[in-house]
Amino acid sequence: MEKRLLHITVNNEIHELYVEPKRLLVEVLRDRLGLTGTKRGCSTGACSACTVLLDGVSVKSCSVLAMQADGAEITTVEGLADGEKLSPLQRSFLDHGAYQCGFCTSGMLMSATALLKESPKPTQDQIIESIHGNICRCTGYNSIIRAIQAVAEGKYKEEG
Ligand code: FES
Ligand code: FES
Repeated sequence: MEKRLLHITVNNEIHELYVEPKRLLVEVLRDRLGLTGTKRGCSTGACSACTVLLDGVSVKSCSVLAMQADGAEITTVEGLADGEKLSPLQRSFLDHGAYQCGFCTSGMLMSATALLKESPKPTQDQIIESIHGNICRCTGYNSIIRAIQAVAEGKYKEEG
């Protein structure tokens, strides 16, 4: 199949690569760019493990063709930290034990990042709504909700 040139900015790095038109964004991120923090769970749009930000909006990267992201800016979980400095949400997830196996965690972090960008002071209902599509088989969700809430309450700041 003829490949097409994809221009994409991922975590502030510009990439140009040839991809088959049928390739999914999650495949390009993981298999071509080596960004394996984005997880592939169901591949059917049902679990949200593969969530990334596309021009600031959370999307399921298994449900987006890579070419649909041509020209876009993507943020993956690898883009949340600044070198050794974790984002407030990442630190809060650690402190609250908001993970067990960790398979859902990057998707949770990206959904919560999108929420806090749009609504820095969300209600508990908004927090629950923001992650309602993110399936976690381990935590029971309470620790995840508390971790997001702590950031919304200003208990975690960007590290200077
Ligand atoms: S892997 Fe994308 S929604 Fe499950
Ligand atoms: S921590 Fe295991 S699926 Fe969420």
